[in-house]
Amino acid sequence: MNRVITVVLFCFLVTSALAQKPYQVVVKANQPTATVQPTMWGIFFEDINFGADGGIYAELVKNRSFEFTKPLMGWKEQKKSNATGNVLIINNGELKNTNPRVARVTINGDDHFGLQNEGFRGMGIKKDLQYHFSIWARPVKGNVTVRAELIDATGKSIGTASVTPAGDQWKKYEVSFAATATEAKAKLNVWFEGKGIIDTDMISLFPGDTWKQRPNGLRADLVQLLYDMKPGFLRFPGGCIVEGYELGNRYQWKKTIGKVEDRELIINRWNTEFAHRLTPDYFQSYGLGFLEYFQLAEDIGAEPLPILNCGMACQFNSAEVVPLDQLDPYLQDALDLIEFANGSAETKWGKLRTELGHPTPFNLKLLGVGNEQWGPQYVERYKVFAKAIKEKYPSVKIVTSVGPSPDGDLFNYLNPTFRSMNVDILDEHYYQKPEWFLKNANRYDNYDRKGPKIFAGEYAAQSISTVNPENRNTWQCALAEAAFMTGLERNADVVQMASYAPLFAHTEAWQWTPDLIWFDNLRSYGTPNYYVQKLFSINKGSKVLPLLHDNAVVEGNDGLYASAVSDDKEHAIIVKIVNSKNTNQQVEIALEGIAKISSSATMTVLKSENLESVNSLDDPKHVSPVEQRVELKGKKLNCLLSAESFTIIKISTR
Ligand code: AHR
Repeated sequence: MNRVITVVLFCFLVTSALAQKPYQVVVKANQPTATVQPTMWGIFFEDINFGADGGIYAELVKNRSFEFTKPLMGWKEQKKSNATGNVLIINNGELKNTNPRVARVTINGDDHFGLQNEGFRGMGIKKDLQYHFSIWARPVKGNVTVRAELIDATGKSIGTASVTPAGDQWKKYEVSFAATATEAKAKLNVWFEGKGIIDTDMISLFPGDTWKQRPNGLRADLVQLLYDMKPGFLRFPGGCIVEGYELGNRYQWKKTIGKVEDRELIINRWNTEFAHRLTPDYFQSYGLGFLEYFQLAEDIGAEPLPILNCGMACQFNSAEVVPLDQLDPYLQDALDLIEFANGSAETKWGKLRTELGHPTPFNLKLLGVGNEQWGPQYVERYKVFAKAIKEKYPSVKIVTSVGPSPDGDLFNYLNPTFRSMNVDILDEHYYQKPEWFLKNANRYDNYDRKGPKIFAGEYAAQSISTVNPENRNTWQCALAEAAFMTGLERNADVVQMASYAPLFAHTEAWQWTPDLIWFDNLRSYGTPNYYVQKLFSINKGSKVLPLLHDNAVVEGNDGLYASAVSDDKEHAIIVKIVNSKNTNQQVEIALEGIAKISSSATMTVLKSENLESVNSLDDPKHVSPVEQRVELKGKKLNCLLSAESFTIIKISTR
């Protein structure tokens, strides 16, 4: 990828000959106003837009267990010459209520009969990489060999290997093979060779390069993008997916752990959510389940933040509630989850975690009760949860929803109600226009310092309007978010966590836009919004410092938005400034209350020549940070901020 890096933002000495009078700001290095929590900037994960199955969960076979509503969705019968095999779907529901279906394949000899899997909009295959094929099988009659074969978009074979099931019991058979070519739209043929009858289930193909090479693992490029953000927390598994369209398809964490072949698949609620983006092949296999989410959080150094259903289905959909006297199973799920995460091997659920391969507790400190709920029905249910959780686990902090919007009737009822109950953390959501983000950069300046902490749990600037399929991850949106985030940082005594939403989207299978990270079967990229999130997170610092112009905070004056932190570990002062104006601006930063600073600083600039700019699979770093060294004069730095830019200045105080 060729890229011409033009640094148009530059700094020069105060004594420079340039004429424009700089906008003066002062950073008071010896007057910290708040501690920045390690959790400050985090990740919101939801299985939307093929985020899990077809996305970060590296399984390449769609409908591997024939449990989609249409059992052969994603599969196609394949016949070579005159083969006369057939497939019969058998439902063992009376014996087994999770994964009850199997595919019975009968082949009559002479030639080959098979099933072809189309993957999740194809399969992304890499030349020379090992692929791990597995199948559960039980020979019923005769001798049948199963041959896996990857084919490219033209039908050419790009890798193959066989297993020969034996005996008359169910068993998992595995074989690995290398792909001979790279292909974004590969398919998997599963040939049945010989003569006989064989029962099959859980036909699976994983790449050999999953994150940390874990079996049943995650797509490494996508996890890497998360890891690079150094996130403070990982919220999972959503989002509305927690609630379900109706209670019957709510997220139940206990069904997502244990043997993968025994996890009960259900429809993904985003399958049918938007008439304009129907996704009939969207289901939840739960191959990525709660143990894997906890593991992911641990791998990327983030605090786990699970959100649980509180007895309410999505209020945008069926809005069903569980009667208060029937809440027990929901409540028990919450208490058991804490034990699963934190309990010793002597406890029931801690023992299970240990048996599943993770003896060390996950040290869960945060738990969400309900996703985006509202109304007195939520408050009633929340109270039951809070009482039980606090009685047993007083140190666990509960995240509480204040509804889907940052204002309006729903918010105005829940906000004072929960404040009067002195809850731990309020989860605010804002899917708003870029202008809203600019206007609300001061939202938290006057929040009650003694009240609940704030989790800006879901936010994203919408280039057109919420859930509009034309929304794009433009530079304008990212810039407005950056401006708003200076306000979050400045108020880090109140705002202790924040995450952009949604996180992932498959370019061919999304339901909701904008999203932080986009991918296809082989490639992925961070949007301009991703770089904003990442820059805040990797520069989060430890203490908030006052950054003032004429003794006032900088939150829109002259189109500038700014905040500052000190970093105790790295011994640095970090200033973040957004210039939202369409003209360059000179700014003079004076550092006060500090004995020693370096004579040069690092300046990282995120900008674009056009507010409509976006990144893409073909131009993934079109809007991405550019770094340079700049010189200070004494304790002052004079900068020319480019029009419509976001700048981070890091000055060493060693
Ligand atoms: O992020 C997409 C959806 O937006 C989430 O599932 C929900 O919580 C919010 O309405």
